[in-house]
Amino acid sequence: MNDMMSPSPAVATLAPCSILAGIGAYLPARVVTNDELAKTVDTSDAWIRERTGIRQRHIAGPDETCAVMATRAAEAALADAGVAATEVDGIVLGTATPDQAFPATAVRVQGALGCGGFAFDVSAACSGFIYALSVADAMIRAGQARCVLVIGAEVYSRIMNWQDRGTCVLFGDGAGAVLLRAATPADGGATPRGVLSTHLHAQGALGDILYVDGAVGQPDKPGHLVMNGREVFRHAVAHLAGAVNEALEANGLAIADVDWLVPHQANMRIIDAVGKRLGLAPERVVVTVDRHANTSAASIPLALADAYAAGRIRRGQLVVMEALGGGLTWGSALVRM
Ligand code: ACO
Repeated sequence: MNDMMSPSPAVATLAPCSILAGIGAYLPARVVTNDELAKTVDTSDAWIRERTGIRQRHIAGPDETCAVMATRAAEAALADAGVAATEVDGIVLGTATPDQAFPATAVRVQGALGCGGFAFDVSAACSGFIYALSVADAMIRAGQARCVLVIGAEVYSRIMNWQDRGTCVLFGDGAGAVLLRAATPADGGATPRGVLSTHLHAQGALGDILYVDGAVGQPDKPGHLVMNGREVFRHAVAHLAGAVNEALEANGLAIADVDWLVPHQANMRIIDAVGKRLGLAPERVVVTVDRHANTSAASIPLALADAYAAGRIRRGQLVVMEALGGGLTWGSALVRM
């Protein structure tokens, strides 16, 4: 672990007060390899690997809805934290593939877990987890809650045009969750722990480079994901590196202080390009896109859970997360584990 630089005034004003007390994940059992996909769509394992780094993806079964997967991930996060569902004050869930227009998927999760408090969804596409984490952290800082489940859950397999090889090879299903709780004096010490800062952005003028057609406003459309891949790529690299630097600057830290980058797992070329732009060694970047593909709002908590379960990310380490998605939306979160 790298030593933290002396706290600057910016750090003092961003005194952390929400701790990542537990981390959990859920992936559907069904794994679809590139070769299996190539049987139904005009693509190849070689093309997908070379352009994206993806080898396989998990695909939800008929009973694995967004709410079901989110509930399983939340249960795992609660178990990791050793906290009962009855202690949860609220649920904030990032998703672009809710079970229904309403009620919110978070409400379904609340019902399944048997907890009380508030529950709502956040819609920010692939940035959904960063947005949800930011909202939950702000609510804890404001004293509105002490214990909040933050979940990213997606079933993109349900919004794919499975004839469009330009998009259907890129995505997978799954859910990840963290339990955020208000810091107590016992969490103190020389090095502050918890969410140090979050930064959120959106650029609505770019709404048409990545979107889902159909739904309420366009009932005649199929409700499939539509993407201009090259444009998304171009914006992703610049904005994601910028969001990480913004987080570091706000906390008086440098990239050398970061133990792990947990990026949104869109594709390996974006992850590599952002790492290079930041000057970060590949060994400090968590990668799951090869196994999970792009699970949108679920990708960061899934990657976090994967590295945490493997003992790579450890308590006390400095982790920076970044994501960009449809909207465009993008942002970052800097966390001392
Ligand atoms: N298999 C085989 N050939 C394919 C496939 C495929 N799955 N998909 C496209 N092709 C073909 C195209 O038809 C085209 O053929 P042509 O030259 O005969 O017309 C050729 O490959 C090149 O197509 P491009 O779309 O130009 O390929 P590109 O090099 O841009 O790679 C990709 C496409 C991987 C989508 C790239 O643009 C990219 O990584 N974009 C980032 C988008 C992304 O990751 N989006 C995820 C959601 S947003 C987010 O999470 C940040």
